Amino acid sequence: MPSLALLAAYVALLCAAQASARSDSTLGATAAGASATSAGAGGRSLLGVDPALLRLIKLPPGFKIRTYTDDFVDARNLAVGNRGSSKPVVVYVSTTGDKVHALVDRTGTGTATACTLLSGLDNPNGIAYDGSTRSLYVSEVRRITRWDNVDVAALAGCKASLLRSRQVAGPAVLPEQASHANRFLGLGPDGKLYVTVAAPFNVDVCRDPYCSIHRLNKNGSGHEIFARGIRNAAAWTWHPVTKALVFVGMERDNMGPGNTHNNAPDDLLHSLEKPGIDLRWPYCHWVGGGYPVQRAPGPGTAIADPDVTLPGMTAQRCARVAKKPLQALGPHIAPLGVLYWPRAVRAGQQQWPVGFGNGFFVAEHGSWNRDPPIGYRVAYVQLNANNTAVVRHSIFASGWLQPSGDWGRPTGLTRLPDGSMLVADDGQGTVYRISYEPSTRG
Ligand SMILES: *[C@@H]1O[C@H](CO)[C@@H](O)[C@H](O)[C@H]1NC(C)=O
Ligand SMILES: *[C@@H]1O[C@H](CO)[C@@H](O)[C@H](O)[C@H]1NC(C)=O
Repeated sequence: MPSLALLAAYVALLCAAQASARSDSTLGATAAGASATSAGAGGRSLLGVDPALLRLIKLPPGFKIRTYTDDFVDARNLAVGNRGSSKPVVVYVSTTGDKVHALVDRTGTGTATACTLLSGLDNPNGIAYDGSTRSLYVSEVRRITRWDNVDVAALAGCKASLLRSRQVAGPAVLPEQASHANRFLGLGPDGKLYVTVAAPFNVDVCRDPYCSIHRLNKNGSGHEIFARGIRNAAAWTWHPVTKALVFVGMERDNMGPGNTHNNAPDDLLHSLEKPGIDLRWPYCHWVGGGYPVQRAPGPGTAIADPDVTLPGMTAQRCARVAKKPLQALGPHIAPLGVLYWPRAVRAGQQQWPVGFGNGFFVAEHGSWNRDPPIGYRVAYVQLNANNTAVVRHSIFASGWLQPSGDWGRPTGLTRLPDGSMLVADDGQGTVYRISYEPSTRG
């Protein structure tokens, strides 16, 4: 719902871009050859994201951001396919509409063309690629489907006739849900599928199968609840050493009187080292230390919910019995993506500065339930060497939120085979590539 103020801001930016009349290779590129392009976001041409907008993005020294494709892609989550080959590179892109796209970079040089691989689905927000069978698992609201031969089909320009599919799980596993029906999906190091079944409301007493992360075997057997007491696990990954499932969780809205909800509770980064943990939502929440716009490292302080109470579950008891998050990310920043970043790189991959490694990037979709708004960034959370605590919480990429409003909203994150990062944006309808190029200019 773009407001008039926002639209005005966008027009102003476009005018500024034209006034500066810089020749820019991004603007010069065309969307030729693309068959993606579902209904577009407002104010966006087929010429890709305006370079004047991209110049608003702030990054640490030596980093560059470009669009990965000039095609419109209503991107939500990202998954690298083609067994992680550096050429051609295939990236699958989920949406909260009805489509799954593929981005193909044939030369591996950082520019991809989009095509639509699947359509007619019901909110296919979750995608997980399995290189062992070259399959893409897709979660919709009421089912998980395995699609085989996806790499061949994507490289043939999204030729749907090359695909084979079979249903892995149906309505018995994935319940009816109107609210928070985006089913994030991941393939764990244990070879099992993990899928979110979030709270079907803002806040209330929650019962199975909701407010949890479920897991099942790839063939659909062995379905169980992996973790409970979670409002909305919007995305996760696994730590390669501890094998913990590390997720970003969205917390409740409109808590407390007046504008209390502006600063509490915090959205969270949590680590689950074993199955069976109950995180005690909706009774317990966390409020980070330091300022809401950039919380201090660590979990902050536990608080009890003022509306949904359990006898004896005070803030003090929450602090004792509720698992501490790794990091309080800030109130309403709305995390939708989390990406582990390794310290060691393989041959041919970018080596990012020492400040980035053994940590997690978090994509912040940005707030609606806060005045002033917050988020619309990519943050970074640095773990200590033994993976027990966070030592730094910093802002990596920002600028999608301007004083006049937001022009983009980060969602999914992934790491390309060349060691650069992709950031999806479902506000602008694009995917960016962030690379470390300290020697290049401009
Ligand atoms: C399904 O997968 C599980 C785990 O890999 C396996 O033990 C089981 O035999 C499989 N079931 C069928 C019917 O293939
Ligand atoms: C982990 O490392 C920190 C220093 O970064 C240290 O203080 C702590 O004792 C270590 N914990 C364990 C369990 O090794």
